[in-house]
Amino acid sequence: MKSKISAPGKIILFGEHAVVYGYPAIASAINRRLSIDSFGKVQSDVPIGAGMGSSAAYAVATSAIKFGGKPLNLEKINLDAYEMEKKRHGNPSGIDNTISTYGGLLWYRKETENLKVFKQLTSKINPPRLFLVNSGRPSETTKEMVAYVKDLHLNKTQKIEDLFKEVEKIAKSFAKFIFNEEAVNFGTLIHQNELLLERLGVVSESTKNLIRKIEKIGGMAKITGAGGIKTDSGMVMIYHDVPNVLLDFLKSLNLEVKEAKLDEEGVRYEE
Ligand code: MEV
Repeated sequence: MKSKISAPGKIILFGEHAVVYGYPAIASAINRRLSIDSFGKVQSDVPIGAGMGSSAAYAVATSAIKFGGKPLNLEKINLDAYEMEKKRHGNPSGIDNTISTYGGLLWYRKETENLKVFKQLTSKINPPRLFLVNSGRPSETTKEMVAYVKDLHLNKTQKIEDLFKEVEKIAKSFAKFIFNEEAVNFGTLIHQNELLLERLGVVSESTKNLIRKIEKIGGMAKITGAGGIKTDSGMVMIYHDVPNVLLDFLKSLNLEVKEAKLDEEGVRYEE
């Protein structure tokens, strides 16, 4: 019998790279999916090499097709997809396969190799509108970007740990924001995380230029995912208090923009 299974792409709202070192990150499944049928045919609208988890979505959908069963055994699929991700990326945190498996909006922390703690976040507020613009495909792979940060961490451990601690504070502020525990400026959190990623050195000059232009018209933007150094840095997520101002501006730059629908469903049967 033919079956078809799809798994979503993702964005990391806060905490990419830091999450590899045991710090928390927040990721959301988004409305772009990859599907595989039992004949192995793949269809996808998750852009490749943009930091949107296309390889994890592929791993998750492949594992799900392999195991089958109704309902899908999410734990088993997630573990299997993580092993596939390890083969491809070397040292992934596991956040990409986990968000693609379970979907939603996740708080995620890799405590140890065998203890990954995650929790669905249920927003108590109307989640802010987020927009995505592709800065272009990075010259580096995710594996290379993770290895680049590993080198930095090895050589300047304290400095990088301090930077990741700042990222952790941002992730916590975001949790307080969506639980309505504290008045927090969402745009400011995005901006702060971007500056930390720039200090880490994972954002290219051209992408920084694009982000500075967006800031000039009152937007706040950050890369999402592993980033890229030499040319472009993949997807950029953007917040603006007045979305139309942002949309008109991006149009004037001839940039294609898509709204990110957050909190989407994880791996599922399509037919
Ligand atoms: C990639 O989507 C996110 C990184 O933090 C790597 C990982 O967590 O495995 C850069």
